[in-house]
Amino acid sequence: MEKKRVLVSGGAGFIGSHVTVELIEAGYDVLVADDMSNCDSTCFEGVKKITGRDDIPFVKMTFCDAAATEKLFADWKIDAVIHFAAFKAVGESVAEPLKYYKNNLESFMNVIEAARKRGCNILFSSSATVYGEPDILPVTEQSPRMPSTSPYGNTKQMCEDILRDSVKAYSSIKGIALRYFNPIGAHPSALIGELPRGVPNNLVPFITQTAIGKRECLSIFGNDYPTPDGTCQRDYIDIVDLARAHVYAVRRMLDGKMEQDYEIYNVGTGTPLSVLELVKAFEKVNNLKLNYKFAPRRDGDVTAIWADPSLANEKLGWKATRTTEETLAAAWAWEKHLAGK
Ligand code: WQD
Repeated sequence: MEKKRVLVSGGAGFIGSHVTVELIEAGYDVLVADDMSNCDSTCFEGVKKITGRDDIPFVKMTFCDAAATEKLFADWKIDAVIHFAAFKAVGESVAEPLKYYKNNLESFMNVIEAARKRGCNILFSSSATVYGEPDILPVTEQSPRMPSTSPYGNTKQMCEDILRDSVKAYSSIKGIALRYFNPIGAHPSALIGELPRGVPNNLVPFITQTAIGKRECLSIFGNDYPTPDGTCQRDYIDIVDLARAHVYAVRRMLDGKMEQDYEIYNVGTGTPLSVLELVKAFEKVNNLKLNYKFAPRRDGDVTAIWADPSLANEKLGWKATRTTEETLAAAWAWEKHLAGK
């Protein structure tokens, strides 16, 4: 039987590259398209090494270009598309909202337009940020979405609604939105991982860069929150576990197993971890002492959020399996790989 091909838009990035590895290892053909505006070729080259495939098709393009998007779908037989191509820096989105609304919404609408003409189902990379500061924990897919505190988060909610309304209007397509919690870690090969540009916003890359000596000291933003140790709690999902959730979701779409035209799944571990607990776990598993201090709270941070992943466990047949220790050891190995150690 002919192999199914999955288009991974933004596939040269952190999550996209890990998803590409898992899709290829699950027996799918993958077409990667990326404008390379937020990454270099490191991860795509790593994907080729991990999979042993030097022939993974790559197209450098922006999905904001409707004609280029249409041409891609005309040139390639695409059975499903996973859409990652978007800007994702929360702080930058507050400073440059129009750049985020234009890029993130226009690119997704162009993808849906080209996909619906060909009956190509769509998997959208959403985020737990849509839940804002939840009143009840853990959050389920029925938990209310809260007004976003950033244009970035708003584009995630708007893209979910654009997908929902499109699958309702166009009978040719179905859609799945995966709401990621906090993706962390790197591939166990240490050949692909997170490559933040400039000073990392996210916790784990800041930790690994502090440990390697690129950063002087980790500031823990706030230790006066109403949590057991005073620091914020998150649901940190290993990047390989997260990538595998995409394979299960694509399989559900391509095997015709979807029960609704539009489905949403939380992709998390279901277990909260505080900043301090994560720092201590990193020190322990990597047998090192991290230089950190407590600092004032960061604007926009929610106190605590973690997933109820039972719907994904049941309907996708997917469950996070990697331990925090494995994840943080892989994150450290990746940082050392980047430093040539
Ligand atoms: C986690 C915790 C910080 C850095 C963001 C986006 C979300 C998603 C994941 C894209 C918080 C604390 C962090 C540091 C710290 N991205 N922290 N010192 O903010 O939960 O989620 O990334 O989809 O949309 O909002 O992740 O890693 O930035 O922060 O103390 O130097 O670590 O205060 O409590 P966040 P994060």
